[in-house]
Amino acid sequence: LSSSCFRLSSAMKIRRFKQVVGRNDQFTRTVGAGSVVDVMPWLQYFPNPVKTIFDDFKRLNREFNSFIRDKVSEHRKTIQSSSVRDMTDALIASLDRLSAKTGVPLWKEYVTPTVGDVFGASQDTLSTALQWIFLVLVKYPDVQQRLQKEVDQVVGRQRLPCLEDQQQLPWVMAFIYEVMRFTSFMPLTIPHSTTTDTTIGGYSIPRNTVVFINQWSVNHDPAIWPQPETFDPDRFLNPNGSLNKDLTSSVLIFSLGKRRCIGEELAKLHLFLFTALMGHQCRLASDPARPPSLDWNYGTLKPHAFHIAVSLRGDMRLLDQAAAGAPAGEGEA
Ligand code: HEM
Repeated sequence: LSSSCFRLSSAMKIRRFKQVVGRNDQFTRTVGAGSVVDVMPWLQYFPNPVKTIFDDFKRLNREFNSFIRDKVSEHRKTIQSSSVRDMTDALIASLDRLSAKTGVPLWKEYVTPTVGDVFGASQDTLSTALQWIFLVLVKYPDVQQRLQKEVDQVVGRQRLPCLEDQQQLPWVMAFIYEVMRFTSFMPLTIPHSTTTDTTIGGYSIPRNTVVFINQWSVNHDPAIWPQPETFDPDRFLNPNGSLNKDLTSSVLIFSLGKRRCIGEELAKLHLFLFTALMGHQCRLASDPARPPSLDWNYGTLKPHAFHIAVSLRGDMRLLDQAAAGAPAGEGEA
């Protein structure tokens, strides 16, 4: 997703990029729900640890925004009408067209925040999902084998999996939904606030109340999910082996309502491609001396650091071919 926002084309830029995404964990700690100020907002006026966290949050945001602003300025200087290199170019070009019609210069105001939203909202979420996918695959070797079996049967060993395979790989999708349900790594949504007195499920909620959705509890409700603490992708399959769409849409991790995640479909495509490719090409194993644990750190729920061994299932031929066909600049990242 980062390379969809802006292609990275030199070692120096990649170093700067790594610095920015390397701060993901710090960022999660500062925004992670669970702060007492979320439920008692008046505490923000008192000197307390939350104020320090909020100051850190502002600093991280300043650094992040300056990275995005620099990237957008570079794009503005080097953009050519004949080729769209990435999403930043596409946004600049379409806002230029709109400006030409309206006579109002728009790119400055809209491109940086839009790219910042997409880049920012996808970094921590997707990387956390990937960490869990790795961990679950080493924790449950039979699950890994089942996944490899389906991918091998449908894709064969002569080519890499691609997006078009998704419909034929229901077990891979069932695995991804079960990772999202089981880990519920975004246990609570971003805080929102009521704008008027309202009621929900018979409870009255006054105006200006901070409201979260407890996604974790929905995903572990025994009325919907028998044995919710068991990792079982098969729960998402119909008796004929197809994906049970009613159940997959009951997994709650992208929030609800008007402000629900706009990246849901994109995220699921990325997770599918990553999982199918990984299963097709790699074998993951845990270190017997350091068996993986499913414990997590609070915020966006991230697993504790873990050790795994990754080996190739075959040779590098298909991966080398795919890398050779990648657009300029991508191979370097
Ligand atoms: C597995 C990956 C992801 C998860 C679990 C996730 C989850 C969420 C959640 C829980 C929210 C908060 C909604 C609310 O305010 O109630 C959100 C918002 C958002 N997400 Fe995602 N997200 C993921 C990936 C992405 C990706 C890849 C993008 C990039 C397009 C993205 C873009 C956004 C944006 C822009 C918002 C703010 C929407 C708004 O405030 O109107 N997300 N996401």
